[in-house]
Amino acid sequence: MNPAAKKCPLKSNPVGALAGDVEIPGDKSISHRSAIFGLLAVGETKITHLLESEDVLNSLYAARALGALVRRDGDQWIIKGAGNGALLEPEKDLDFGNSGTGCRLFMGLLGTYDFPSTFIGDASLSSRPMNRILDPLQLFGTQIISQQADGRLPITIRGPEFAAPVEYRVPMASAQVKSAVLLAGLNAPGITSVIEPVMTRDHTEKMLTGFGASVEISTGADGVRTIALEGQCTLTGGEIHVPGDPSSAAFLIVAGLIVPDSKITIRDVLMNPTRTGLITTLLEMEAKIEIINQRVSGGEKLADLVVSTSELKGVIVPGERSASMIDEYPILAVAAAFAEGETTMLDVAELRVKESDRLSAVANGLKANGVKLVEGRDFLIVEGNPQRHGLGGGRVETSHDHRIAMSFLVMGMAAGEPVCIDDCNIIATSFPQFLQLMGDLGANMEPA
Ligand code: S3P
Repeated sequence: MNPAAKKCPLKSNPVGALAGDVEIPGDKSISHRSAIFGLLAVGETKITHLLESEDVLNSLYAARALGALVRRDGDQWIIKGAGNGALLEPEKDLDFGNSGTGCRLFMGLLGTYDFPSTFIGDASLSSRPMNRILDPLQLFGTQIISQQADGRLPITIRGPEFAAPVEYRVPMASAQVKSAVLLAGLNAPGITSVIEPVMTRDHTEKMLTGFGASVEISTGADGVRTIALEGQCTLTGGEIHVPGDPSSAAFLIVAGLIVPDSKITIRDVLMNPTRTGLITTLLEMEAKIEIINQRVSGGEKLADLVVSTSELKGVIVPGERSASMIDEYPILAVAAAFAEGETTMLDVAELRVKESDRLSAVANGLKANGVKLVEGRDFLIVEGNPQRHGLGGGRVETSHDHRIAMSFLVMGMAAGEPVCIDDCNIIATSFPQFLQLMGDLGANMEPA
């Protein structure tokens, strides 16, 4: 997002019913990785249904700056790779805008290249912790040439002349950290192993295998996973069809559940079990979500979802589930505001280091719209109000956070009074079609 762009405050009005049959844009995590593996591959990688959001475009620009030829041909993106071990030194700083995933994955990747690279981003990204990437990189021999206080952007790193492979136990549940270490390992000789006590989204390891890397995954009796990658391999380009993003579908699902008299169908949603924690939780809340046309495509599970208005019940969401729905807590909290009883979300401290401090941003937004709640250091309890009287009427600070913006626009669609957000521009980082799609389904939003 252009930081000088004027803010775009938006009001979401309560609406009667949502109806329609929609396809949502490609998955953001898989789209970022498609740019990265396209860059690393020998030959061409052809990608369809790539998410064309600001975050992913920044990853494509970075791939180009590092030696890939990137072009769009009709509905395909075609990347001619530079090859693993053969990236070029970037001529300019690499700007990842709002994207933690783009920044952290490229930082890992470049951590074992013997040239300097500088990472910059917007105000939100510049306030997020990068030590979680710099710490394991230093084990490979990466030098941190400069950084802002406490591992914040802008950061300049330089890889060692001869990288050493690493064994690293990821200290928090983070697919970004796991992926950064594996990508660094690609340019180190020998076996790099990542030990993952809590399983997180597995797109990196799946795509590494798909591009021809030698990856061995073992899971201990205690559920701890070890991913062992042989470095300095050749990766080969192929065809990728990016499935629909479950984290974007989440906003449509919850809108369909809480707006009265609604029925919507959402097509081609990625159903990888590391991403479906929200659906599991909503089903426990007695949501009417039919999972139909289940199939496997490109090694991933997909399905269509038919969602109807439901009388939701509050539940306790266990901490073990948080990795599989980490981006969905803001919209779950909105669903919980319309449920009968309390919904308790446990072990969600990671929300404090997302695009905003999401735990506080959600709590403040809900409070401004008449919801009773308890915000703990690492938990949130939301008291539901299925009668909806007194819900809405507030203005929400989005804090450069696309998921806060979309969650509260959904709240306005179902509340007693409209909900305003201070800026809708940030939505373009992950889901540029959001306003159009919601409008097609029956939403009523206007400048505030
Ligand atoms: C992502 C991992 C998650 C998630 C982010 C995308 C990825 O972050 O929140 O939106 O594509 O690897 P963490 O690894 O910090 O949990």
